[in-house]
Amino acid sequence: MHETSSTEESTHASEALWGGRFEDSPTEFTQAFGASLPVDKRMWESDIEGSKAHALMLARQGVISNEDADAIRSGLDAIGAQIEDGDFEFDIDDEDIHMSIERNLTEAIGAAGGRLHTGRSRNDQVATDARHHAKKLSDGLAHQMLDLRGALLDMAQEHFGVVMPGYTHMQKAQPVLFSHHMLAYYWMFTRDFERLRAAYRAADVLPLGSAALAGTTYPLDRHFVADELDFAGVAENSMDAVSDRDFLLDLSYACAVAMMHLSRLCEELIYWSSNEFGFIRLSDAYSTGSSIMPQKKNPDFAELIRGKTGRVYGDLMALLTTMKGLPLAYNKDMQEDKEGVFDAVDTLGNSLVVMTGMIRTMQVNEDAMRAGALGGFMAATDLADYLVGAGVPFREAHAIVGKLVLECEKQGRTLQDLSASELAAIDERFEADALEAVDIDKVVERRTTYGATGHEAVKVQLDHARESLAADTRAMAD
Ligand code: ARG
Repeated sequence: MHETSSTEESTHASEALWGGRFEDSPTEFTQAFGASLPVDKRMWESDIEGSKAHALMLARQGVISNEDADAIRSGLDAIGAQIEDGDFEFDIDDEDIHMSIERNLTEAIGAAGGRLHTGRSRNDQVATDARHHAKKLSDGLAHQMLDLRGALLDMAQEHFGVVMPGYTHMQKAQPVLFSHHMLAYYWMFTRDFERLRAAYRAADVLPLGSAALAGTTYPLDRHFVADELDFAGVAENSMDAVSDRDFLLDLSYACAVAMMHLSRLCEELIYWSSNEFGFIRLSDAYSTGSSIMPQKKNPDFAELIRGKTGRVYGDLMALLTTMKGLPLAYNKDMQEDKEGVFDAVDTLGNSLVVMTGMIRTMQVNEDAMRAGALGGFMAATDLADYLVGAGVPFREAHAIVGKLVLECEKQGRTLQDLSASELAAIDERFEADALEAVDIDKVVERRTTYGATGHEAVKVQLDHARESLAADTRAMAD
């Protein structure tokens, strides 16, 4: 802890790492208000990596001695080990993780620690840490996204051939394969995976060496540092480098869209698991009961993911708004960048764990889906098309089938309940094979276009999905 100062509520500005030119200090309150340590301490590993690379480069360039660089690097390793083991005491008087580690380093190794910050500003340091850390975060989410895609794909494969109602306007529209419905989400999450990879690439540029905003007079080798830290490139403009947070916005946006997709899937799982639908049963592990109604099994976790989507949108809007009025280069406003992004990443990460488990453990009620597909006159278009095949103009066919549907509705029957002779009685152009037109499996099977729900088309789609998952898994392993 820092010593208490002469006035009760101020801390020693002279003890802060920038304290040289200050005579008075912020109060404890403003000190805490200005601090980001509680949020940015989770970047400690990136901060240590970045400092180690910087020190090594300074020595190679002859700016500091090899002995100093060695002392700095092993001192940083020791701090890293302490943090890892939970033995490191974060001092709330330290403004941020950069100050915290540097102060502890200097306390541990003496003067050499004071040479670490040569040719560096916290402005390029924080941008470097944030990019280094963002790469890790997007990587982790991309791996989780692969797991979810795998779960959806397995579900689609396992229940191949199961017919269910497809909806538009939440009204029964045309029957589809359950596999087709699951694969629709597979492709959404494949795009999310790609967005996360794009966010990774956006972060993969090194700002370090830009110093406060203008670059530095020391002969820094930024490309060496980029190689050391495994960055694909070096930022071209020092002012842009220290004040660009697009890479965090990209990550935040990727999280927001993925949450939107999860939320849509949750919405379906929620009503599919209702008594009215009964299409699926969520595992007890992903349901909760009611404190008053003994019969209840609630899809709480799906509802929570749907509910948490809002905060992730909020995280994105907050950062967009923080950035919108900022002149070049660094402004302290930008310290607000991390909390929301971390929240978005955590929320998506947790939601992905839950969703993947929920999909892997849910039971599919194939009979209920099929029964649902028989209702709602979903073969009506095919029956009209049958008449078109017999030479009836489509508009006339539409009207004939429309009347037929009305009649069935009055009698509480489905199209599949009708016999060939009943059909013929309505219009003599309905022959015996008209029954095939309303056969629900055949209705699906007939959709043979590329990307359609027909069995053959879905088989092709399943193959392509499998291939894309394998390719993305390979790419992530490299
Ligand atoms: N904690 C600061 C942040 O997160 C680090 C950069 C501080 N730079 C400065 N000039 N005050 O943005």
